[in-house]
Amino acid sequence: KIEGLALTPPMGWNSWNTFATNIDEDLIKGIADAMVESGLRDAGYVYLVLDDGWMAMERDAQGRLYGDPKKFPSGMEALGEYIHSKGLKFGIYNCAGSKTCGGYPGSRGHEYMDAQSYADWGVDFLKYDWCNTENLNAKGAYQTMRDALYATGRPIVFSICEWGDNKPWEWGTEMGHLWRVSGDIVNCWDCEYGHGSWSSWGLWKVINMRKDIRKYAGPGHWNDLDMMELGNEFTDAENRSHLAMWSMLASPLIMGNDIRTMSEETRITLTNKEVVAVSQDALGIQGFRFLNENNIEIWIKPLANDEWAIVFVNMNDEPVELNFNWQKHDMGDDLNQKFAHLDRTTYQLRDLYNHKDLGNTSVPLRAKIDVHDVLMLRLKK
Ligand code: DGJ
Repeated sequence: KIEGLALTPPMGWNSWNTFATNIDEDLIKGIADAMVESGLRDAGYVYLVLDDGWMAMERDAQGRLYGDPKKFPSGMEALGEYIHSKGLKFGIYNCAGSKTCGGYPGSRGHEYMDAQSYADWGVDFLKYDWCNTENLNAKGAYQTMRDALYATGRPIVFSICEWGDNKPWEWGTEMGHLWRVSGDIVNCWDCEYGHGSWSSWGLWKVINMRKDIRKYAGPGHWNDLDMMELGNEFTDAENRSHLAMWSMLASPLIMGNDIRTMSEETRITLTNKEVVAVSQDALGIQGFRFLNENNIEIWIKPLANDEWAIVFVNMNDEPVELNFNWQKHDMGDDLNQKFAHLDRTTYQLRDLYNHKDLGNTSVPLRAKIDVHDVLMLRLKK
């Protein structure tokens, strides 16, 4: 694969969660404009990814893909130029199977030709789905597309969208820069909707289902917990927890809401640079579950320069008073051999959502946390 890309979890926006296949030139340009005007681009969200539904239903006479002429009358190359002119990067979608999940032409048997089209259009990111793949070997299918992208010589981030059945974390590092760990998430806190052979997962379902694969994540290769549902009917508290957890888990931060019409509170959450800095920490270590105390989930992430991030998420249906005694809890990460000895070192506490200093670890931490809200701290020496 092309090395040196996605050294921190990719950040951006994807059309699927809100628009499904109802995408067109005006929408995408409007999203690009909103990414700039809202401050999202400057907070780090740079990939603008078109998901399923951008293509014409058939290939052209030479077998090439092209944008649906009704939806994208100016063509994909012009769209890429617009996106780049805004200081953003251009992401696109296809599928390893004969057709995409939405029934558009898939890349199976056309991988090298399609990769070259993307490179010609200035594409910077490819999400590659897994529908209509009967008799295909997953690792092999992603390897073919990886090699095709590599052959173009253009640095294209490769986003593997297999849904966890073929354990993409075991081979994804070799094949791409991120891989999905489950089927699609859905905008609920902790539900699971069964659809026969597959399910959609609420936030805490997917977090808990995949908390043991953190060792596979690192710079250039990330566990992808799916596009965020942040801003899609969650409370402001839940939105804060969503971004906090996706950051702690070093998941890509790909927005899926309509950022042209989002609330000011949602915008403030998404553009919180202190929170995003935890996601984008140079060490690239995925955080882990530390403990659950009184139905408060406590997660930890080792950061560069011997700093730590810690979140306290209130899973209760009522506000709680947190009373956390640091001295009782040395923080250790066996996987990466990082330890914070709180009996020997006093850390300063920074509250990342409220942008204020909260004293240090020599005294117990007391705070009120609202329903499904989060207290997110950075510990510094
Ligand atoms: C399934 C993927 O998991 C979704 O994220 C989305 O890309 C759809 N396919 C598009 O059809």
